[in-house]
Amino acid sequence: MRSAPLTLLLSAFLCAAGCSDSGDGDGGETTGSGGATGGTTTSGGSTTGSGATTGSGGGATTGSGGGATTGSGDPTSATSGATSGSGGGATTGSGTGGEGAGGSDGTGGGASARVPAASASTLREAGEKANPPILIGAAISGGGLGNNDYKRVAAAEHNYVTAENEMKWDALEPSAGNFSWGAADNIVNWARQNNMKVKGHTLVWHSQLPNWMSSMTGKANVEAAMRRHITQVMGHFKDRLDHWDVVNEAVQTDSDTGVGNPRMRPTVFYNQIGESYIDLAFQIAREQDPKAKLYYNDYSIDARNAKVDFVYNMIKGMVDRGVPIDGVGFQMHIGPPNNEATGADVAANLKRFTDLGLEVLISEMDINRCGGVVTAEEQLTYYHDIVAACFKEPKCTAITFWGINDGRSWLNSWSGALCNGQSSQSLLFNDQYGKKETYNRVMNALLGK
Ligand code: XIL
Repeated sequence: MRSAPLTLLLSAFLCAAGCSDSGDGDGGETTGSGGATGGTTTSGGSTTGSGATTGSGGGATTGSGGGATTGSGDPTSATSGATSGSGGGATTGSGTGGEGAGGSDGTGGGASARVPAASASTLREAGEKANPPILIGAAISGGGLGNNDYKRVAAAEHNYVTAENEMKWDALEPSAGNFSWGAADNIVNWARQNNMKVKGHTLVWHSQLPNWMSSMTGKANVEAAMRRHITQVMGHFKDRLDHWDVVNEAVQTDSDTGVGNPRMRPTVFYNQIGESYIDLAFQIAREQDPKAKLYYNDYSIDARNAKVDFVYNMIKGMVDRGVPIDGVGFQMHIGPPNNEATGADVAANLKRFTDLGLEVLISEMDINRCGGVVTAEEQLTYYHDIVAACFKEPKCTAITFWGINDGRSWLNSWSGALCNGQSSQSLLFNDQYGKKETYNRVMNALLGK
């Protein structure tokens, strides 16, 4: 057995920066008009929804989600409802709007806990039938789509797609101002044919950034290049995508586990523009698409450690300044050399972000067995408990796995993995695309078991 993860030892430091339950959000959806008009016909939603009776933000404009005036929950920490879909909420809701960020796709529900489906034969069905629904995603690669088994499993089990590499800066804008859409379009088109939503990944990131960009100097130059990239990329996909990772991995620590001297990562964006590049990126993205969900995404912020405290303060500052951010993606790459996290740690960590009025997402989940360093039993527990932590939180709107089958996992070849060369066995399907026990544990968590 290994000793207790560092993340656990650091948990005592938390809440100094505020674990308040004020529920003051960011005003909710830009498209929200305040009061909820829905909430009369929820399908399985709680009758004791926690919708707020006060507040001027968010709120459902249509549909069956939304906060309730009859809710018994705490109105100060309530979140607003959805503009569409069957998001949770009360059966008698005619709420006047909640504080915080409402969901535009039925995910913001007003109930205090997500209600699982009674049964489901695929992960995506379990996600779609839950109330409020939760998106079940996978990182999809162009290479994978050349394999029929991969395509079959990916589409049957998931309703949410992140392009594994094809929408990164080096893929989309390999030389300054020249954009290359083919590989990304293939993934987006395939996803749409299979009724899957796509999250754009990722607009501003230090990695997989072409040299012409990473070596650029001058604040005005870098700002202009960043603006052009965000504007062009979001513009190209505008009719097809409305979820974006706007900034990825802006914070670093001495170790990849999120421990030691958290600080802004010295990227070309930070070095030339300063920390305000993050606000600016979100503002540009909001200008380009007022309705899109805009996310910050990072790794080793999944449980409790120095890095996530730093990120929390950064995000809270953005919310306080009115920067248009809708949510935070927790990559959830669990196992050496990255984070280790119990379900309880993840639940507590997600909550302090939802208390800011934000959505949260598990955005890149895999659990690296690292050639046996993480035992099969440990991996199963991580998978079940972490998925359950997100599932139980109605404002956790998606769980994305970073790949489909073990054989294609990035962890098998990524040089950063300490167990490089050893089998990661990190995902839900084996090399023959058969379901592993990890799949069953994830399904259980999605069914509330
Ligand atoms: C990884 C891909 O899976 C690899 O194929 C690629 O070589 C490197 O990037 N955080 C992220 C993802 O945000 O984009 C990374 O994806 C994994 C870590």
